[in-house]
Amino acid sequence: MSSENPIPLPENYIPAHLKSEVESVLIGQWQIAHRVEEMAATIMEDFRDKDLVIVSLLNGTILFLADLIRQIDLPMHLDFMGVSSYGSGTEARELAYTKELRLDVEGRDVLLVDDILDTGQTLHQVTLKLLKLNPSSIKTCVLLDKAARRVHEIEADYVGFEVPDEFVVGYGLDFAERYRNLPFIGVLKPKVYESREA
Ligand code: PRP
Repeated sequence: MSSENPIPLPENYIPAHLKSEVESVLIGQWQIAHRVEEMAATIMEDFRDKDLVIVSLLNGTILFLADLIRQIDLPMHLDFMGVSSYGSGTEARELAYTKELRLDVEGRDVLLVDDILDTGQTLHQVTLKLLKLNPSSIKTCVLLDKAARRVHEIEADYVGFEVPDEFVVGYGLDFAERYRNLPFIGVLKPKVYESREA
């Protein structure tokens, strides 16, 4: 797993209107693209003879999922579950399901996709919920793994990048529903979320 930006980031990579909010770029868009390509290749090998169903968790996976599945050249079914745990703060709360799965996963091989594995609450609970639907197998795939915050004993089968215990945004990840459209993963300045939590 590569951890350095292969291409130097251009000046003004962080948009001017966000310079007072985004501290730094943790993972640039070219580095993400390269890693997603590697992950898709591994997933293709592992699921070649399987009955692949991708279950993607809304909302954070929008960009990651779109890039990942375009590179998985296999027959697949795709569905989404809406799961929310954070609201506007940074501390994990109860999980709320905002959209239920509609596809039948019984006897199929599920690849559960999320943007970030943090405390592990989401993947832990969603995996338990999916197991009740009797899939043939479940594997988990996350772009980011923030192991320092783990509460539940869970690891993902496919991990894009290990990230430090910083508040990361961009490439689908938000704070208070902002920053999801950034093409890179950036670190949010504490003053942004501290002011919202006060
Ligand atoms: C975030 C993220 C993961 C989850 C990870 O979701 O997308 O699903 O938290 O945290 P955990 O490992 O501590 O459970 P969030 O509730 O913020 O919803 P979102 O996907 O709409 O941003």
